[in-house]
Amino acid sequence: MGRKNICKRLVVAAVGLCLGVAATASAAEDPSIPDALAVIHSRKSVRHFTGQPVSADLLNRIVRAGMAAPTAVNMQPWSFVVVTDRAMLDALAAGLPYAKMLDKAGAAIVVCALPDKAFQKKTEFAIIDASCASENILLAIEALGLGGVWTAAYPDPERMDLVRKVLGVPAEVIPLNVIPVGHPDGTDQPKDKFHPENIHLEKW
Ligand SMILES: Cc1cc2nc3c(=O)[nH]c(=O)nc-3n(C[C@H](O)[C@H](O)[C@H](O)COP(=O)(O)O)c2cc1C
Repeated sequence: MGRKNICKRLVVAAVGLCLGVAATASAAEDPSIPDALAVIHSRKSVRHFTGQPVSADLLNRIVRAGMAAPTAVNMQPWSFVVVTDRAMLDALAAGLPYAKMLDKAGAAIVVCALPDKAFQKKTEFAIIDASCASENILLAIEALGLGGVWTAAYPDPERMDLVRKVLGVPAEVIPLNVIPVGHPDGTDQPKDKFHPENIHLEKW
């Protein structure tokens, strides 16, 4: 490895370190900075729940956060199905291979993408926009002291059909995911995914 390359790597590592420290310090130590960063860094996929129900008020606040997400040309091409009925949650768990944690979740939010309402009626925009809403939902869940996890429906045709069938979602609507929501039992913890080598300074 040439000297120039070594220097570049050192600079990237140093900036990475600063960014890492800044993320921790800002959330923990500077009261003038809202604690959004603390929520972002503490969010994790929660797959272990206590089985307690989730109140309608909390679910309402979570879905509102989803609707605050950005969308291409502000088209908001989405709908949200909020499920609390145990029989429905069990039917989703039975049909979705990687959503078995629904058995102890208090609720599920199914984020649906609507290509017909998306900018240029493009499925890609609908999926991107609904994904933005999904991340907002996951962050709101964390901020409210609850736990959640994105379990995939899209792009698997069988899983999307199962969700459509169980919840009566129209054929032209894409069920993007099923997000079980519940009270975490404390098992799941955030992962450190900060890798300075994934940052390119000024140029790739
Ligand atoms: C598009 C997408 C699909 C996912 N599908 C599933 C799933 O079906 N079941 C599941 O348990 N987790 C699923 N996850 C959660 C990921 O496994 C998880 O986000 C990843 O392991 C990183 O862990 P973290 O969320 O705790 O940071 C999915 C996440 C995304 C973004």
